[in-house]
Amino acid sequence: MARIASYRDLGCLVTGASSGIGADTARLLAREGARLVLTARREDRLLALAEECRELGAIAAYGIVADLDDPAAPAHVVEMAENHLGHVDVLINNAGFAVPGLFASSDLERTLSMLRVNVCAAVELAHRLLPGMVKRRQGGILNVSSMAGHLPAPYQSAYAGTKAFLLNWSNGLHQEYKHSKVAITALCPGVTDTEFFDAAGYPQGGSIMKLSAPCGPVAELGVRALAQGKMEAVPGPLNKLLLFLPRFLPHTWVASASRRVMGGRPKPERRSR
Ligand SMILES: NC(=O)c1ccc[n+]([C@@H]2O[C@H](COP(=O)([O-])OP(=O)(O)OC[C@H]3O[C@@H](n4cnc5c(N)ncnc54)[C@H](OP(=O)(O)O)[C@@H]3O)[C@@H](O)[C@H]2O)c1
Repeated sequence: MARIASYRDLGCLVTGASSGIGADTARLLAREGARLVLTARREDRLLALAEECRELGAIAAYGIVADLDDPAAPAHVVEMAENHLGHVDVLINNAGFAVPGLFASSDLERTLSMLRVNVCAAVELAHRLLPGMVKRRQGGILNVSSMAGHLPAPYQSAYAGTKAFLLNWSNGLHQEYKHSKVAITALCPGVTDTEFFDAAGYPQGGSIMKLSAPCGPVAELGVRALAQGKMEAVPGPLNKLLLFLPRFLPHTWVASASRRVMGGRPKPERRSR
């Protein structure tokens, strides 16, 4: 049963809209005639995307600069979004980044920042916006998790932990609100061609990108899955297979295989954002 028959005229808040999956999600919602508030830290990107979205068909599109690492940011973003949109029907909880590498030698402050952005901000935005959606009996929340939320991910352990939280939390919320008119969906991308690996400090053009999926179809899957009221969406047959096969294998074996795969990846060299 479709939960969101059309995004037309719905007020949509997209976090992490300045690049990658968030930007492509904004473009898709714009083509459907939504009213948009886009948020991230890079103002120039947001302003350019807001203009592009208006040209693509958005009834309105605004950019709000906010650093979701700041504990005051989610409340500020909600206040500004409601000022612009009246109310928020659809929340795309997409902003996120990774701090890869050996956990004990990782930058603690950056790791804690990742928890605040990937988890705390998403939870607070949903907590502030969901009651209105339930009351109005329309809309939904798309939580962008990851394949890393499903499987142990050595050398991305804390990042995978944030995505496992998002996935389990989102799936639980989906069940809690199953009989409301509000859709709650987790999107679990695999390796996707965005600025994500650059932001995490991986060397550009590394071998991991040879496996990457184009960003547009991943964003489209999320937007469609939310409209259809699905609990979870996984892009591509390879990712689906990677989730299916481990069901028949011992968990420790899967974790160990994951270490061998992740350990062979190029190590982050620098931090770019
Ligand atoms: N690409 C992949 O392979 C992949 C795979 C699985 C899951 N994902 C998830 O997909 C989501 C989108 O990532 P992406 O792949 O599209 O990467 P991306 O191009 O790097 O986009 C990340 C977005 O998050 C925003 N962001 C980061 N830190 C922020 C902060 N402190 N405050 C506010 N916004 C912040 C960035 O904006 P600013 O820098 O302008 O603030 C940017 O718009 C993330 O949650 C990521 O974990 C990605």
